Amino acid sequence: MEILDSVVIGAGQAGLSTSYHLKRRGLSHVVLDANAAPGGAWQHRWDSLSMHDVHGVAALPDADSPTGEQGRANVVIPAYFGSYEREHDLPVLRPVRVDRVESAGDLLVVRAGNRSWTTRTIVNATGTWSQPHLPYYPGIGSFRGEQLHTRHYPGPEHFRGRRVVVVGGGASAVQLLGEIAPVAADTLWVTRREPVWRTDDFTPDRGREAVALVEDRVRRGLPPTSVVSVTGLALREQEREAERLGAYRRRPMFTRIEPGGVRMPDPPSDDGVLWPADVIVWATGFRPAIAHLAPLRLRSERGGIQLDRGGTTAVADPRVQLVGYGPSASTIGANRAGRAAARGVAAWVSRQAPERLPQPPGRQAPERLPQPPGRQAPERLPQPPGRQAPERLPQPPGRQAPERLPQPPGRQAPERLPQPPAVVSSASSA
Ligand SMILES: Cc1cc2nc3c(=O)[nH]c(=O)nc-3n(C[C@H](O)[C@H](O)[C@H](O)COP(=O)(O)OP(=O)(O)OC[C@H]3O[C@@H](n4cnc5c(N)ncnc54)[C@H](O)[C@@H]3O)c2cc1C
Ligand SMILES: NC(=O)c1ccc[n+]([C@@H]2O[C@H](COP(=O)([O-])OP(=O)(O)OC[C@H]3O[C@@H](n4cnc5c(N)ncnc54)[C@H](OP(=O)(O)O)[C@@H]3O)[C@@H](O)[C@H]2O)c1
Repeated sequence: MEILDSVVIGAGQAGLSTSYHLKRRGLSHVVLDANAAPGGAWQHRWDSLSMHDVHGVAALPDADSPTGEQGRANVVIPAYFGSYEREHDLPVLRPVRVDRVESAGDLLVVRAGNRSWTTRTIVNATGTWSQPHLPYYPGIGSFRGEQLHTRHYPGPEHFRGRRVVVVGGGASAVQLLGEIAPVAADTLWVTRREPVWRTDDFTPDRGREAVALVEDRVRRGLPPTSVVSVTGLALREQEREAERLGAYRRRPMFTRIEPGGVRMPDPPSDDGVLWPADVIVWATGFRPAIAHLAPLRLRSERGGIQLDRGGTTAVADPRVQLVGYGPSASTIGANRAGRAAARGVAAWVSRQAPERLPQPPGRQAPERLPQPPGRQAPERLPQPPGRQAPERLPQPPGRQAPERLPQPPGRQAPERLPQPPAVVSSASSA
């Protein structure tokens, strides 16, 4: 049986950066990716997201950045990733969707259908795109109109002449409003807290402070917060027309959803006022795609996966690295996390299988290095009492899984919306 040093799960920015650094260190690995083609989540982004619209895509290690290129992001970036995989001869296997990762003594077994890989470590780089977050609001199932999440945004034409509610205060909401408002009959923007607009330039120092805030949460085992909650929002030229139309006049959340629209908490009426709506767009963000890690019981009692100070190693099981998670959920963060994760893998392998790593002459074998007192093998790490696997976490009553979004009779479910030709169908996507 072949034992790999690592299995990287996911071939987006985070997975490719990790694979590059693992390869440089001579660590044996494969990269398993659920998509049928290169490009990570970028290949599924909406057609109207151009390279002019993205915030900037960090260069993969030892490569130029694609940021200055023209065209659709869902074409340019997949092409960039594809040529990177080829040029660096990265060992990517696809389409392979990992179902579960299990502990087997000192090793880990990664399972995908009837295939499996045995490895000393894993690097999880599965992003968030496959986990759209759809909150529950009273009356959600009664709405007669259409509901869709950012993930299934079909472009502005779909909304022409319709009354559209956009929920959420992140970059997606701002950008979708910018496109929808100029063609819609009317838009209503609702957020659960006052949006924070950036008034000054988002300097590298401000960026580092924002990342440090998310890092701190993750180090304490809390779930990562929305990106916008630390970075704030900015309007760009593309959004000026929507701004002129009043689309960014933010309103508080509706009190309930009704068949014909959303009920707004407008005084003086106790009942509020019905805002008639044809469509609700849930721009409510994403959650980490980590269900396949449930058997490893990584989640802390505080709801998130606690990472060490290095920012990528799971405290509950140091065989597991997480990249593109929390503070590294950006292209630049993913890049850096890939390097840190490869370092973490090398450290683990050098302790567990020192013969795997070339040793300079006269160097002490790592297993003879002093170990911190009380160090335990990860599979013997104590689990907090009553710990639940994430998929068994209690759901609020009436909460619906995203794929069960209520649809009006005869209306196509968002995931069945026609896909543009260059985009892999969501059935094979992450
Ligand atoms: C609309 C939008 C625009 C953005 N624009 C920017 C920007 O301009 N600049 C920036 O820095 N960041 C931007 N971001 C954030 C950035 O895209 C992400 O943080 C980063 O690209 C994520 O990279 P990743 O490798 O972690 O994940 P992904 O690109 O999502 O890659 C994850 C890969 O894992 C695979 N996968 C998932 N589950 C499994 C499984 N179980 N088994 C096997 N494979 C699996 C998926 O198929 C996918 O290929 C944007 C995000 C969005 C939503
Ligand atoms: N042009 C671009 O480059 C571009 C475009 C779009 C997105 N992005 C990137 O994509 C990533 C995701 O952005 P995103 O905007 O999709 O997600 P996000 O940043 O996570 O924002 C999600 C929003 O939904 C709100 N929300 C969550 N749960 C809610 C609930 N129950 N009720 C009401 N509102 C709720 C959040 O509010 P709280 O803050 O209160 O939690 C937040 O305002 C970010 O990295 C972003 O920068 C980039």
